[in-house]
Parts: sequence; structure tokens; C-alpha cells
Amino acid sequence: MTASANSSTTPVADAAAAPAVPSVPAAATAAAELPGTPLAVEIAGAVDITPQALRGALGRFATGVAIITCVDPANGERVGLTANSFSALSLEPPLVLWSLRQASASLAAFQHSAHFAINVLAEAQIDLSRRFSSGKEPDKFGAGQWSDGLGGAPVLGGSTAVFECERVSAQEAGDHVLFVGRVLRLADAVLPPLLFHGGRYHLLGEIL
Ligand SMILES: Cc1cc2nc3c(=O)[nH]c(=O)nc-3n(C[C@H](O)[C@H](O)[C@H](O)COP(=O)(O)O)c2cc1C
Repeated sequence: MTASANSSTTPVADAAAAPAVPSVPAAATAAAELPGTPLAVEIAGAVDITPQALRGALGRFATGVAIITCVDPANGERVGLTANSFSALSLEPPLVLWSLRQASASLAAFQHSAHFAINVLAEAQIDLSRRFSSGKEPDKFGAGQWSDGLGGAPVLGGSTAVFECERVSAQEAGDHVLFVGRVLRLADAVLPPLLFHGGRYHLLGEIL
């Protein structure tokens, strides 16, 4: 995939050009998910916002999945993790954000690295998503087609989009650190994305 500031892929064009993706029947999906918190109870404000309830409700917000990478300036090693907190922030200037658990083994590297790369995963990369969300994997970069991007931040071939960023800020926010990055280089390709919803991976469904 080459860097392409002028690639103009729209969601509709992406989906139309993508190979046929089997849709997940709604009933099967619902049956596999957690039951949820009754809306009336939430509105009454009668329950504590427990981490479990918050995670469950936030999980109703469907997202893509990314592997976010950098190089640890302390030792030159590649660092990365699976994240779905990635979000758009600003078009002018081009800013994106994501958040990292304060307890993460990767925190110091991202706090000290001047650059990071956000590799938005295609559905074919689900194994890499699992690999990079395992705190026990000793060699995360032992699979996948990796190359060095800006500041050495690893860029993953076969991703559906890549945003190479310089770190603008890293701000403590609760039990996470909020990273804001300025996009210096981007690339995208028309590939079916990997999705996450209700604590499970999904394929892209029907166009409405
Ligand atoms: C779909 C998915 C999304 C995730 N999103 C985030 C995230 O946005 N921020 C975060 O800190 N951890 C997130 N995680 C958890 C990390 O991937 C996991 O804790 C990983 O082990 C962190 O890397 P570390 O071992 O270097 O701390 C996510 C996991 C999955 C499966």
C-alpha cells in the first residue's frame, strides 16, 4: 500500500467494491452477547456506574480495530497493541486520538516516542488483532508484514488504512492516557474492515 493523500475512498465505494462478506444473522449475534442494562434504570440514575456496566454499554458502540505502534526510544524496540479507542478529532489541522490504559506495559514507550502509527485492520488481520491484544505474546511483531514508518513506528502491510502521526499531547484521563496525534502521512485501501461490537469481532454487514 502506498501513501496516498489524494485517494478518495468513500464508505459507500469501499463497501460496494469489497468482496461479498457473509452477514451475521441479527438473532445469532444478539444471542451471543451480554444481556445489557435496562435503559429505564439508567435514566433514573439509580445504579452505580460500575466498570462492568460501563464496558457493556460502551460495547454497544461498534468500532473498527487498529494496531497502534511506536518505537520505544529507551531501547529501540518496536511496541504495539490492539486498540479500538481510536477516533477522528479534527480535519484542519488533521488530528486523531486514542487512549491507552495506564497499567499498560506499553505506556512509557508511547509517552516518550515522538511518533506513532495507527494501522486500521482489515478483516483478514483478525489473528494479528488477537496477537496484539495478548499481554502474554513474547514476540508480537513475529507475524505480519511490517515496515518502518515515520520515526520508525511500524506500519502494517494489508491494513485498510494507516495514519502516521507525531504525538501532539499525552494527557492523563482517569485510568487511561489520552493521546492526540497530528497526521503527517496516510494511506488507505479498499478492503473489508475488522469490526468490534458487544465484546466480539464482526464482519461488515449490509449497506442500508
Ligand atoms: C478489540 C480490542 C480493543 C482494545 N482497545 C484498547 C484501547 O483502546 N486501549 C487500551 O489500552 N487497550 C485496548 N485493548 C486491550 C489491549 O490490546 C491489551 O491490553 C494489550 O495487551 C495491551 O498491550 P500491553 O500488553 O503492551 O499492555 C483492546 C483490546 C481489544 C481486543
